[in-house]
Amino acid sequence: MRAPRGLAGRLCYGGDYNPEQWPEDVWREDVALMRQCGVNLVTVGVFAWSRLEPREGEYEFGWLDRVLDLLHDGGIRVSLATPTASPPPWFTFAYPDALPETASGVRLRHGSRDTYCASAPAYQEACRRVASVLAQRYADHPALALWHVHNEYGTWCHCGHVAASFRRWLRDRYGSLDALNEAWTTSFWSQHYADWEHILPPRATQYLANPSQLLDFRRFVSDELLTRFVEQRDILKASTPDVPVTTNFALGPWVPVNQWRWAREVDIVAIDHYPSSGDSLGAEEETAFAADLARGFAGGAPWLVMEQAPHHITVRGRMRPKSPGQLARLSLSYVARGSVGAMFFQWRASRGGAEMFHSAMVPHAGPATRAFAEVAAFGTELSRLSERVATAFAGQASGGFASRVAAGVALVWDPESWWALQGPGLPAPDLDYWAAVRSVHASAWRIGVTVDVVAPGADLSHYRVVLVPCLFLADQSAAGAVETVVRQGGHAVVWYLSGVAGTDGRVHPGGYPGPFRDLLGLQVEQHVPLPEGVSVALSTGGSGSLWSELLHLRGATVVATYADGDLAGEPAITRHAVAGGVAWYVATHLDDAARDALLGGVFRAANVPVEPGAGGGVELVRRRNGTVFAINHTSREAQLPLCGMDVLTGSVANGELWLGPGRAAVVAPAS
Ligand code: GAL
Repeated sequence: MRAPRGLAGRLCYGGDYNPEQWPEDVWREDVALMRQCGVNLVTVGVFAWSRLEPREGEYEFGWLDRVLDLLHDGGIRVSLATPTASPPPWFTFAYPDALPETASGVRLRHGSRDTYCASAPAYQEACRRVASVLAQRYADHPALALWHVHNEYGTWCHCGHVAASFRRWLRDRYGSLDALNEAWTTSFWSQHYADWEHILPPRATQYLANPSQLLDFRRFVSDELLTRFVEQRDILKASTPDVPVTTNFALGPWVPVNQWRWAREVDIVAIDHYPSSGDSLGAEEETAFAADLARGFAGGAPWLVMEQAPHHITVRGRMRPKSPGQLARLSLSYVARGSVGAMFFQWRASRGGAEMFHSAMVPHAGPATRAFAEVAAFGTELSRLSERVATAFAGQASGGFASRVAAGVALVWDPESWWALQGPGLPAPDLDYWAAVRSVHASAWRIGVTVDVVAPGADLSHYRVVLVPCLFLADQSAAGAVETVVRQGGHAVVWYLSGVAGTDGRVHPGGYPGPFRDLLGLQVEQHVPLPEGVSVALSTGGSGSLWSELLHLRGATVVATYADGDLAGEPAITRHAVAGGVAWYVATHLDDAARDALLGGVFRAANVPVEPGAGGGVELVRRRNGTVFAINHTSREAQLPLCGMDVLTGSVANGELWLGPGRAAVVAPAS
């Protein structure tokens, strides 16, 4: 991890700044307001290509020069974006072959954003050119702190350029057509390929498409887009080796990016996060999950929340204003979990355009508003905190781990299993990997246990518990990593649908859950999806929904059986004692209370420390240096047995900290 230049040891505060939407006198007010609320970093130029290069090869930098100078004079540092997420209208006319084509063969035109094909030579060339020109012009600008390449990589195209590139990627992956035919099971429905040139990106088809082809296409798109990122990154680095380069990862089912792979190529992991949960405390838990995910991508190192909405949460298309104080609480949650700041989309609300009603740090009503007052108040809080969290960077630079987040539980996250579980022909139409993983994370969050999110196959040897929800694609190495925890005396909890297929997407023969069978001491004979809205009672109380399975025990013992339904009397939850540890299997989607009870028991049995007072909406995150972030998301006062000084208020707690409703504290141990 490399901190934005000039901001090492400080928390970043700011957001996307789009001065090209405003007359210059507004820029002056912007900088004054930014200073007023402690903004120290803004992302400039993300969607400014048409203003930077209004005609091909003709550049207009004067306005950007003036913006950067103004920001610099105001002491504000710049994350300078390459504008390649939105080519200008001239690009459409000059390079019609570089426009994206849908799976149905429709060529898309400009008028929105992301109108390009990442495999088209003309687009690649235009990107390299604009990145080079920006790098040369601003290499020595003193405000430059960070390069922000592109925006939320994740576009799709199915055109001829993509087909050619996809075939090259497949040749590298499989070496021979025989191997590809085997992996894609092309003997099914007469899809056997006799010529590489006949392989297409997934196109609109008469009926269900080949799931292996779909999965490989996602992998290909991830790699193809990563190549585009690396091209720009290397151009920027050649001009400014001391300026870190990143891109902002989007999270969502549509995103064809494997962040585990991408995270290795950026200098600092950055995510955009827009919680969408309407449940009580849903946005809070979702925020914690996204933050844990980002910290996982970063391998535990500091990372940055690059975008979040300042004042609203969109739930199924409806914008709901954040409650008073929620901006600060959610932002602090990211920071508690390793973000080196809090950034927003965007600084000033647009007057027009497709996102004009998106909330902003400066709302349409201007700075004399509750919304802006919250932005300013949190900025002040964050700069107070900056000094203390400086150790996040210092520890990293010295190779130390003093201020990293402490977690004894690992949660396996696999974007490829997410992709596979969006495939066609699955046993139920409503399988939702994100929701399944979230439900497990939410249980730990409610209990008050911090988890690290890890990749399948990662080294898990220092965890006491590993949680494996719905890891559909799993090979021996993923299962082996889980087994290590159990063999060391730890606990593994594996959920339904795990280990069904290998990483090529083909079912492991011999019964589910494939490579986990021996560890779990069982075999799944049959999937039994439950009808929508139907739940089945469990012998231990609580219920399961969505999914159930017919199991055969091969060493495991029963923890709970189904009390009713077609599988009445059959095991629903099992445990298998192995070499001092325990491997649990959960064959249904437990209700929240049942899942909390199960995991609470597992954490106790594994001696995972639960922060006293944490849980139920009181979020406590401990750093390895003993600093505790405490955030009370509830409307009740919380009593916490903490000792030390609250960095935010300067007050000292001697074993008892009273945290008012909606309040937060960052308690540093007495040194
Ligand atoms: C992000 C995107 C921003 C803006 C924002 C609105 O995904 O990067 O440019 O569109 O969403 O929520």
